[in-house]
Amino acid sequence: MHLTLQQLRLFESVSRLGSYTRAAEELCISQPAVSIQIKRLEEQAGLPLFEQVGKKTFPTTAGKTMYDASLDILNRVKDLNNSIEELKGTVKGPLRVSVVSTAKYFLPSLLGVFLQQYPDVEPKLKFTNRARVIERLMNNEDDFVIMGQMPGDDNFEAYPFLNNILGIVAPAEHPLADKKNITIKELVNHRFLIRESGSGTRYVFDQLLKEHGVSIEPYMELGSSEALKQAVMAGLGIAVLSLHSVQLEREVNKLTVLDVEGFPLKRRWYAAHLKGRKLSLVARTFFDYILEESSKMLDVE
Ligand code: PGA
Repeated sequence: MHLTLQQLRLFESVSRLGSYTRAAEELCISQPAVSIQIKRLEEQAGLPLFEQVGKKTFPTTAGKTMYDASLDILNRVKDLNNSIEELKGTVKGPLRVSVVSTAKYFLPSLLGVFLQQYPDVEPKLKFTNRARVIERLMNNEDDFVIMGQMPGDDNFEAYPFLNNILGIVAPAEHPLADKKNITIKELVNHRFLIRESGSGTRYVFDQLLKEHGVSIEPYMELGSSEALKQAVMAGLGIAVLSLHSVQLEREVNKLTVLDVEGFPLKRRWYAAHLKGRKLSLVARTFFDYILEESSKMLDVE
């Protein structure tokens, strides 16, 4: 078969995303261009690789075989590029890191200083929620990831760095602002804003409620810590947030952290990669840089 790497990349993307349109968006090419290349690949294989069920595109049996092979080949090419760069000893090229959205409050500043030192690095950062970060890591889409709650299995090598302190945040003038030792049960009567399911922050909070045998009816569910913070400031309710995300607002007394039993929750941030994954020189340099530099940063309390 005469295949090109570009065809395999397109094919891998369509299989993973289950859509020609989304693959075209991901790879910044037109949808007809994707269709043409997949058609050529099918001609080479002599079998259909995808079938359409409703609006979704599924791989056929031949497509599944092709998918496994294309992952192998693309990963080998990635490793080859990495080994060549390593031999040259140059810290340059793509750096793919997925970051849970809450870590956006400190990661860009670490990256900024790193890029001053290594200007030939091409950062490709993806900020998304915990569930999606884990999915990307398992699909080998990134060099490594930054997240707060590691899954309980042993597929990953994870290194803790900064503290991730979670508190219950309220507007400074909230009726509970000056109260001491608030119980979780007392909070149930107040309007709660929560993150979407798949968020690490939400996951921790759900666990805590379960431990206390309490359930809450959230007033509103929002898709990012930034949206939650803005909603709390607007007086719409209270929310569990990483204290990294509200540092400035606490300083100017717009937000306060309530004194609730079991809070603040002390967690850690982790830099993690798949077990046994050999990092490229660029990724290894940034990984080590994060662990080293964060140890010199002032931690949030
Ligand atoms: P989140 O993740 O931004 O998905 O809530 C935070 C975490 O992993 O602790």
